[in-house]
Amino acid sequence: MLNIALFGPPGAGKGTQSEFLINKYNLFYISTGDLLRKELKEETKLGLEAKSIIASGGLVSDEIIVQIIEKTITENPDSNGFLFDGFPRTYIQAYILEGLMIKLNTSLNCLISLEVDEEVSVQRLLNRGKTSGRADDNEVVIRNRLKEYNDKTLPVLQFYKDKGIYFEVKGDDSIEEVNANIQGIIKEELNKSLFNLVLF
Ligand code: AP5
Repeated sequence: MLNIALFGPPGAGKGTQSEFLINKYNLFYISTGDLLRKELKEETKLGLEAKSIIASGGLVSDEIIVQIIEKTITENPDSNGFLFDGFPRTYIQAYILEGLMIKLNTSLNCLISLEVDEEVSVQRLLNRGKTSGRADDNEVVIRNRLKEYNDKTLPVLQFYKDKGIYFEVKGDDSIEEVNANIQGIIKEELNKSLFNLVLF
């Protein structure tokens, strides 16, 4: 299986790159942001619980995230693996992901972090906000999302650095260049897995 997590601040391009990757590698897409917005739209109990937190740019509780992931993940996906977008965002979520991977008898191959300057993120999201209809794409909330990212999510990178599966990609290059760099990392990881398979 090929399991990837795309990491990075709001507006880094995680969703944009995910679209290419899920088609190219036939991956089962899990975006916790999209799943939460679906719950919100359907006015479910979880959606209503998360509503005010998303609107303010805060992080939804780990308990809610576990519930939406468990609702979505399937033990035998009709795909080559999983692509996680915007998950994990806390240390607890990183451990939850570890548990999930073990339960599915697989492991995360790589966590790819898209690095962009904060002001690039802000500008991109303000532009997206003009057409996306996302209530959290306004400057006050964007800045709070960035603060949450810096305070609570960024430290999680150490977990993946320690595991040796952390990769960094410059996110402010063109969409095509970012995509080519991500694919370069995935190709190397696939070659490594193939090598290990042949060797052992
Ligand atoms: P979520 O939906 O995950 O939002 P986010 O992380 O803030 O990320 P975005 O979707 O805003 O940005 P992106 O990196 O996907 O960028 P995109 O590709 O769209 O989360 C929303 C909220 O849900 C959170 O604030 C939180 O409350 C809650 N939540 C979600 N997951 C959670 C979790 N695990 N735990 C707790 N709470 C959680 O690109 C942005 C724009 O830039 C687009 O217009 C795009 O066209 C453009 N663009 C992209 N790449 C480029 C490029 N290379 N050059 C130029 N423009 C580009």
